[in-house]
Amino acid sequence: MTNLVPHIPDNAPFTLEQRAWLNGFLAGLFSRNQLELEASAAANAQLTPLTILFGSQTGNAEALAKMLSKQAGKRGFAPTVYEMDDYPFDNLKHENRLLVITSTYGDGDPPDNAQSFWEKLTSDESISLVHVEYSVLALGDTNYEKFCQFGKNIDLRFSSLGAKRAYQRVDCDVDYDDLFESWMSGVLPAIQSSDVSPPASIALNAAAARPDVEEGYSKKNPFPATVMRVLRLNESRSEKDTRHVEISLAGSGLKYKVGDALGIWPRNCANEVDALINVLGFDPDVEVDVAKEGPKRLHEALVDCFDISKVTRPFLQWLLEKTGSSMLEELLYPENKERLNEYLWGREILEVLNEIPNLNVTPHEFALSLKPLQPRLYSIASSPNAHPDEVHLTVGVVQYDSHGRLHHGVCSGFLARLVEPGSAVPVFISPSKNFSLPDDPDTPIVMVGPGTGIAPFRAFLEERRCQGAKGKQWLFFGNPYEQTDFLYRDEITEMLDEGCLTRFDAAFSRDQREKVYVQHRMIEQAEELYRWLEEGAHFYVCGDAQRMAKDVHEALHRVIQTAGGFSEDAAAEYVQRLQAEKRYQRDVY
Ligand SMILES: Cc1cc2nc3c(=O)[nH]c(=O)nc-3n(C[C@H](O)[C@H](O)[C@H](O)COP(=O)(O)OP(=O)(O)OC[C@H]3O[C@@H](n4cnc5c(N)ncnc54)[C@H](O)[C@@H]3O)c2cc1C
Ligand SMILES: NC(=O)c1ccc[n+]([C@@H]2O[C@H](COP(=O)([O-])OP(=O)(O)OC[C@H]3O[C@@H](n4cnc5c(N)ncnc54)[C@H](OP(=O)(O)O)[C@@H]3O)[C@@H](O)[C@H]2O)c1
Ligand SMILES: Cc1cc2nc3c(=O)[nH]c(=O)nc-3n(C[C@H](O)[C@H](O)[C@H](O)COP(=O)(O)O)c2cc1C
Repeated sequence: MTNLVPHIPDNAPFTLEQRAWLNGFLAGLFSRNQLELEASAAANAQLTPLTILFGSQTGNAEALAKMLSKQAGKRGFAPTVYEMDDYPFDNLKHENRLLVITSTYGDGDPPDNAQSFWEKLTSDESISLVHVEYSVLALGDTNYEKFCQFGKNIDLRFSSLGAKRAYQRVDCDVDYDDLFESWMSGVLPAIQSSDVSPPASIALNAAAARPDVEEGYSKKNPFPATVMRVLRLNESRSEKDTRHVEISLAGSGLKYKVGDALGIWPRNCANEVDALINVLGFDPDVEVDVAKEGPKRLHEALVDCFDISKVTRPFLQWLLEKTGSSMLEELLYPENKERLNEYLWGREILEVLNEIPNLNVTPHEFALSLKPLQPRLYSIASSPNAHPDEVHLTVGVVQYDSHGRLHHGVCSGFLARLVEPGSAVPVFISPSKNFSLPDDPDTPIVMVGPGTGIAPFRAFLEERRCQGAKGKQWLFFGNPYEQTDFLYRDEITEMLDEGCLTRFDAAFSRDQREKVYVQHRMIEQAEELYRWLEEGAHFYVCGDAQRMAKDVHEALHRVIQTAGGFSEDAAAEYVQRLQAEKRYQRDVY
């Protein structure tokens, strides 16, 4: 018998995962009898189509988009969820109801998986969205100057293209759960009752029909993992302190793939909490209310629940209200942003409280002025096939002397203190869709990972070794000194000897008078690098977002211009194509 089951073609604008799901969905549908099919079509026709777009780097917006889809499915919608860059842009013409959840990265920029959507949305002035009702939930962090900027930009752009806001945009700080809930409960009825015309095409109700994902351990319900081993990777005389941390996931059921990150809920240092309580003159045993957790001893609450380090603008505004400090008042004038940034550099809440006297508040009021403690993400440095039930990390310990005190990063400091094997650490997996090995193990890969940026590439190399992959592998690594800062030297040497690592180029920045960085090595090897790209290599970058990733991005353009003989514009197009084909992926922070 002829196979009449329709099939989503390989070049259709879906991710592999979506395509596999859709094909399974179609196969399921067509295996049912005709009556069932008609009944299902009739039911679907009564549902209100809703498109949900998300832009997400570390999974927060993605998780909320999926929750929104689930709720929408229960409330009479037929929702379809897309990563922004995977959304078939031409569908905008047919959209009536669109909800966007997106985070912001870099300097108010889109997350990586929303960049090409944004480029398309802003490059064409002829787009009209008058037939669209929409709303935006923007995720961000008030510690960044351009708070929720990308969500704000999307909101403005939709509006300027004629789309109508069905519900006001909501900007969320790191504790976004409550705001998400209230946005969702407002936006769904608002967008359902809107009187937009029916869509020109009926969307497949993919997300609504998706089975509920069993969450298990997650960000909200972390697994209490055990630390197995912590090794210092730099020589003791190095200025840097990078730790290799091995954690057991045994018994958790947690699974990860190379390219994912591990989330860690840190605890504040008890000595810093003592110092804070001391300067405030509080009793450490007094009880304070912690949202969703109820009453806790002040000391315990400050160790486990609140960010006691980072000074935010809202905190300073609160402090100004409580103390009337004229110095603070001046620093908070909008025109004094630069001065405020200078003042805050190297100062944490303890320093500010030491300098601003007359704070007369209760422990409860003080706790209310603080942001909740947040987990940090670390790129996983191990392959689950090479180390079943384990996860390894490469953690740069943040530490600096400032205002007469040695400061430690909250989470890297917490991990550095966990030197005793057996210590417990609450963890969860943060899956990454946009940082993964090519499906075909024969595909060549180029990895640029200076400093802690080497972490995911150790995992990639281990994984491809386990797979017996034939694809060539080229690693660029950089750090200050070869003698003291050559992370994973023995493993890299072994892989080079084995031939599993094809090429290795190091940039030890301070071993000579002039700084040498990974991008200089790329440019020195432009011809060869370009050849690899032409052979279909995937190009990966991990590590510092502020300077390194930008410089490497420029160097990649230069390599393509010089070795490929392209103009500036053509090289930019070449890079955009690499990005669109997911052959240029970044994990930068
Ligand atoms: C997807 C992802 C993957 C990541 N992977 C890794 C990884 O593999 N390895 C890794 O080490 N990190 C990684 N990070 C970064 C990591 O999540 C944390 O941000 C990092 O460990 C710092 O967190 P912390 O709590 O120790 O420091 P925090 O308490 O957050 O302190 C950092 C802050 O300290 C201040 N500061 C730092 N240095 C100075 C200075 N010299 N003077 C004054 N102030 C200063 C700055 O304000 C800085 O923002 C990753 C981040 C992301 C988003
Ligand atoms: N967002 C966060 O909270 C957070 C927290 C921790 C770390 N980070 C970032 O993560 C990065 C990783 O830290 P790390 O200590 O492992 O390594 P790193 O500071 O990135 O240093 C690794 C190597 O990169 C070099 N480098 C400096 N500027 C560069 C540039 N523009 N282009 C290319 N290479 C450059 C350094 O050289 P020199 O030092 O000799 O100049 C060093 O040799 C940090 O730079 C930091 O920005 C962010
Ligand atoms: C490297 C980096 C840069 C960021 N830049 C900004 C920013 O400019 N503005 C902002 O509001 N939030 C910024 N954030 C915070 C994220 O938007 C926020 O953590 C969000 O919840 C992440 O959601 P996602 O997991 O869906 O990407 C930044 C976070 C990181 C790690």
